[in-house]
Amino acid sequence: MKDNDILKTKVMGHRGAALLAPENTLASIRAAANAGATWVEVDVYLIAEGGLIIFHDDTLDRCTTGTGVTRDAHPVSVAELDAGSWFSAEFVGENVPTLLDALECIQSLGLGLNLEIKHDGADVENIVPAVLTVLRDHWQDNDNLMISSFNHAALRMCYDMDADRHLAQLYEEIPENWQAEMEAIKGYSVNCDYSRLTKAQAQAVKAAGYKLLCYTANDPQKVETHWAWGMDAVITDDPTKFAFLSA
Ligand code: G3P
Ligand code: MG
Repeated sequence: MKDNDILKTKVMGHRGAALLAPENTLASIRAAANAGATWVEVDVYLIAEGGLIIFHDDTLDRCTTGTGVTRDAHPVSVAELDAGSWFSAEFVGENVPTLLDALECIQSLGLGLNLEIKHDGADVENIVPAVLTVLRDHWQDNDNLMISSFNHAALRMCYDMDADRHLAQLYEEIPENWQAEMEAIKGYSVNCDYSRLTKAQAQAVKAAGYKLLCYTANDPQKVETHWAWGMDAVITDDPTKFAFLSA
């Protein structure tokens, strides 16, 4: 568990603000800020030549004009792709950001960052040191940063390499051994799918002293009970839906 409390928001934009602009682009990060979010979640993906991009999928097809396996893509080729036209004509010409592009944008907007490390098996040993190096050199305020992953080994590696980071273990469904995993990484937050969370699980997470974040909720009514269970923040594609929380 971490002593200092960094989460000063109840609303975190998902992939920027994925319902308002093409996910995981700078436009999406700006849209989240315009919608009132003070934190954003984005996904970081390792590609060829050690490149780090903000991207969710294992293939380029859905969210860019490119095709093929994301991890095999070359940074120079990725830089030429359009990541906005699939969403709407308004966003034609939007790029796939590098991790560095995103860090600069997020900091210039004064947002907090939940950086989700995506992984592809053996890539864990490559992506974690690469991400931590970029963060060390280009992210100023450790209290405005959470690193999350579904991959426990990736978080273990983060913890071993830099014990000061605030780590969030992602779960689709909270497993039996969640507490052991959180203790192993001196974790800060459990981030889970709101639709699979039970009241008992939520209360156990809170009783153990951890933050509890839920993804991906776009309808406030669907997580109404979760606040009562102790949920600290919601990760949403549309922060405008939760603007009433900060009013
Ligand atoms: O961090 C919460 C959420 O982003 C996890 O799922 O697949 O949208 O990255 P995914
Ligand atoms: Mg994510």
